[in-house]
Amino acid sequence: MIGTQTTIERPPAQLCGHAAFRHDVLNGLGLPKKRIPCKYLYDERGSALFDQICELDEYYLTRAELAILERHVDEMAEAIGPESEVVELGSGSGLKTRLLLGQLVEPRVYYPVEISVEPLLRSAAELSEQFPDLTILPVCDDFTADFELPPAEGPGRRVFYFPGSTIGNFRPNAALRLLRSIARLAGPGGGLLIGIDIDKDPAIVEPAYNDRLGVSAAFNLNLLARINRELEGDFDLDAFEHRAEYRRDEERVELSLVSRREHRVRVAGRVFAFDDGEPIHTEDSYKYTLEHFGRLTGRAGFAVERQWFDSDRLFCVQFLGVA
Ligand code: AVI
Repeated sequence: MIGTQTTIERPPAQLCGHAAFRHDVLNGLGLPKKRIPCKYLYDERGSALFDQICELDEYYLTRAELAILERHVDEMAEAIGPESEVVELGSGSGLKTRLLLGQLVEPRVYYPVEISVEPLLRSAAELSEQFPDLTILPVCDDFTADFELPPAEGPGRRVFYFPGSTIGNFRPNAALRLLRSIARLAGPGGGLLIGIDIDKDPAIVEPAYNDRLGVSAAFNLNLLARINRELEGDFDLDAFEHRAEYRRDEERVELSLVSRREHRVRVAGRVFAFDDGEPIHTEDSYKYTLEHFGRLTGRAGFAVERQWFDSDRLFCVQFLGVA
C-alpha cells in the first residue's frame, strides 16, 4: 500500500529544483576554486550513466555490497528485528532493497526518502507490487539538507538503510551532520544499516572511477551538458577532461573536470574564465579506514553492533545502533 497524504515536501520558502541548481552552479563557478555539488550529477541522464557504472568490471563497489547482502541478509534482518520501520535514504527499488525487505519479519512501514519525485513514486509503485502487505510512505525531500519524519511508533526498531557507500560522497563534517540527524530521527533503540567503501590499494580504486569504456568520464562530463541544457550554458565538452585521483592521504577519490585550455564560458548570462589546467571539483568519494569511520559514527552517537565484509574485504556493511 502506498500512503496518500504522507508525501512530505520541502517548505516553499526554500530554494529547490531549478532555482537551487542555478544558484549552486553560479555560486560554485564563481569561487576561487571552482566546485559544483555532486548531487547535480544525477539528472535523468546522469542517473542512467551511474547505473551503467555499477555494471562495469572496474566498479567493484556494487558487486561487493550485493555479495555481502546475499550472504548475510538473514543476520541483518535478525539485527533489525521484527515490526521495524525502515527508512531508506535514496529511492530503492533495486535488488539490495528487495533482498532486505524480503527478509524482514513483519516490517511495519517503509519510507523511501528521495529528492526527485518521479523516481521516488516509480520505485514505490514497483515495491508495492512485490510487497503488497507493506505500508510504503514515500518522502519527497533532500536528505542532504535537514529533513523530518513522523515520530517512530514502535514496537520494533526504526532503522535507516543507507547502502552504496553514498555516505562517502559527503565531506566528513557533512557526513557527521547527516549521521547525527539519522541518530536523532531513528531515536533511542534505533539503528542504521550502512554500506561503506574501505581504504585499499589505489590500483583497485582508481580504475573504478576511470574505466576503460569511458562511462565515468561521460557521467562526469554530463554535468556540463546539463548546465548547457538547463541554464543556457555554452560549455564546450571537448574543452574539459575527466579526472579521478585517489588522494589516499585524504582517504578520498577526487573527481574533477579539468579545462584543456584558457577560455571563457557563459552560464545563465554570466561569464566565467578558465585557465589552462584549471579544475572544477565535482565529487569526493571517501574510502574510510574502519578506525576513522568508527570515530565518525561514534561522534554521531552510534555503536557498531554487527559488521560484514565481502570475501576480498573490499567493502563493509555495518549495523550501527543508536548508543
Ligand atoms: C554514488 N556514489 C557512491 C558513487 C561513488 O562511488 O562514490 C558515485 C560515483 N561517482 C563516480 N563513480 C561513481
